[in-house]
Parts: sequence; C-alpha cells; structure tokens
Amino acid sequence: MECLEYKVRDLELADQGKLKIEWSIRHMPVLSRLREKYSQEKPLLGIRIGAVLHVTKATAVLMLALRDSGAEEIVLAASNPLSTQDDVAAALVEEGIRVYAWRGQSSEDYYWCIKQVIESKPDIVLDDGADLHAALHSEYPDIASAIIGGTEETTTGVTRLKAMEMSGLLKYPVIAVNNAYTKYLFDNRYGTGQSTFDGIMRATNVLIAGKVVVIAGYGWVGKGIATRARGLGARRVIITEVNPFRALEAVFDGFEVMSMDEAVKIGDIFITATGNKAVIRREHFEKMKDGAILANAGHFNVEVWIPDLEALSTSKRCIRPNVVEYKLRDGRKLYLLAEGRLVNLVAAEGHPSEVMDLSFSNQFLAVKYLYDNRGKIPPKVFDQPRDLDEKVAMLKLESMGIKIDKLTPEQIEYLRSWKTGT
Ligand code: ADE
Repeated sequence: MECLEYKVRDLELADQGKLKIEWSIRHMPVLSRLREKYSQEKPLLGIRIGAVLHVTKATAVLMLALRDSGAEEIVLAASNPLSTQDDVAAALVEEGIRVYAWRGQSSEDYYWCIKQVIESKPDIVLDDGADLHAALHSEYPDIASAIIGGTEETTTGVTRLKAMEMSGLLKYPVIAVNNAYTKYLFDNRYGTGQSTFDGIMRATNVLIAGKVVVIAGYGWVGKGIATRARGLGARRVIITEVNPFRALEAVFDGFEVMSMDEAVKIGDIFITATGNKAVIRREHFEKMKDGAILANAGHFNVEVWIPDLEALSTSKRCIRPNVVEYKLRDGRKLYLLAEGRLVNLVAAEGHPSEVMDLSFSNQFLAVKYLYDNRGKIPPKVFDQPRDLDEKVAMLKLESMGIKIDKLTPEQIEYLRSWKTGT
C-alpha cells in the first residue's frame, strides 16, 4: 500500500509556482486581508482540512490563508484530472500543504488522490463538484460521520448535494458557497465568461469576431459567456435552452434563441454550460458544419457526448495542444477542445484571481463559520450566511476604493412601515 505525504508532478517547478501565487495574492485583496487578520487570531487552530478543488494559483492563496489561520493539516487533491497547475502544486508542497494532484491524471489516479484526502480524516472538507462529498458518503460513512461540516463551490456540486439531502443521506452540514451572491453573480458570470474565451482563444487562436457562437444553457455561466461572445464581435450569438424563463430572458437580452437541432446547422463555435449530459450528441454532430469547434464550460465532461463523436469518426488526431480533430465518415472535421472538460481550466488558467478573491473569501468564511458553530448545525445544505456574503462584497468594494451610501434612520423606518402610501 502506497503511503506518501504528497504526490505532485515535479518539485523543481516550485519556484515558478511561487511567482504565480505571488501574482494571485496581489489580485486577491479580500482574501489577503482575511489571511492577515486571522493569522493573528488563529481561529482554526489545530483542525484538519481536506479539499478537492482545482489546484490553481488562486486556490493556493486560499490554502495559505487556512494554514496561517491555524489549520494543523491541509490535504488537497484536484477536482478535475486536467486542471492542475503543476508548478503551483509543487509550490504548495513547499509551503507545507499535502498536495495530491498533477495535470493529466487517469480516472484511477484522480480517485486515488481523493482517497488520500479522505484517509487524512479531515474535520472540515471543501469540494468543487461534490466528488469528495459523494466518495465520503458512499465509501467512508464512518469518516463522514465524524466530519464537522463541508462546503461546496459549484452549481453541479450543490445539485448533487441537494439530491443527497433529499434522500436523507447527508451526514454533515454543507454550506453551498456557490449560492452566495458574491459567488455566482461574479464567478459564474464574469469569471467563466472571460476564462472560457481565454481557453478557446489560447487553444485555437481563432478570431471570434464574425463567428456564429452557440451557447447551450442560459444560467449565470451561459449569460457570462454570451455577453463576452457579443463583446468579442461574434456575428451571431445563439442560445439554446430547455427552460422557458431563461429562453425568454435570453431573447430580451438581445440574443437569438433556437433549438440545438437548428443551431448545429449554422454554428462555428459551440460552448456547453448546462450541467447536463449529452447536450450535443450524435444527431447534432451529424448536421454540423465542417470545422465546427466544440468546447465545454460545465463542470463535467458529459455535455459534449464524446462516445457518439468517437462512434461517428473514422480517425482522430491532436492537431494542437488541447485541440483534437475528429474526422467523420463523410470527410467533415470537428474540433473538440480540452477533451470536453472545463475549457477555461484546461486550456487556460481558470477564472482570474480577482473573481476567485470573492469565491474563496466566501470559502474561507464558510470554513470558519462551520468550525465556530460545530455541533450546532444539522446535516443539511445551507446557503452562505447573508452577513458573510455582505462582508465579502463590502471588503471588495473597499479594496477598490469604492464607497456606497447608507440608509438614513428615516429610510429604515419607512421601509419597515406599511402605513404611508400615496
Ligand atoms: N474555478 C474556476 N476558476 C478557478 C480558479 N482560477 N481557481 C480555482 N478554481 C477555479
């Protein structure tokens, strides 16, 4: 049985990783401020933290803040087999974090790394996508029962956790960090909007201006991508949806809405952001134009249905890093980016640190809240406490030198009364 303190690609990359982390610190003023404050107070003294997150320079800043706030041991694994920044992983090992992550893991490696996190018997767990929460509940019920609480970073993970809660299986409270205003309104929208195009452009170097961009899903992620597609000069931005409210919202936001069946005939670039499986599948590949580019911005690699693409193809080759060309029987070629995984993290560096500053300040405060309230919270999925969410917003505004107004006592009174009308 292997027993390693950490496992990363190459410790020699640590110096390069430290520079990247320094860059993130500079762009994460809120989290840096929390780190500074709680380095003195040590509210997390002696606790063990297990995390399954994308191992990026921004995540590194969160790990350092938790360490400096007193956490005794932090064990970190990746939340995607292709998203790890190997230099950052190496730097974190040098900072005393037990990292089990490298870019290009097999599925077996991926789950082995999650197992290392679980076997460290964490008090508090942080997850992105709920693979850690799911493994804890299905395979390690005794370890799960001893956990104080957990957090969840993303929409897909919250959906899975709500399903666990509904089946009465959840063994510890989980804070849905994703549902904080200062998370989804910024990370999901502006973070994914920008970084998805960053990934597509780094991978392909194609011009977005003049293209027909098709976006599947008009949740916060889809909204962000659509806005950036328009800003980059896409000739047409087309939304596909299954939800009539969102479809209508997209129309009123000035985008075209149509079925995927129609959109596949005209799209140049397809981006999925639905959280569901097989959103683009056989019947769609069959009608696409030669040269169409396929990218996914949803959490799992199930939105572009690769088994169908493989079945329809006579050959495939890697034509550039993160771009695989599939040659179909009739000679058309389709280009799949980042193996259908999160294009922003695989082909670029994920969301900019300024945005992760908000998400990870929420994560930090959620961990502290769970620990401060240990034993008092039932095993359910909770939203981020509103006061913590507001604190993050206020600190971010302050870091940007922006002041906002305050309600006067008369205004507060007015809002509380119902008697005064016309
Ligand atoms: N998710 C999306 N972007 C990310 C980033 N830069 N770091 C960690 N998790 C992310």
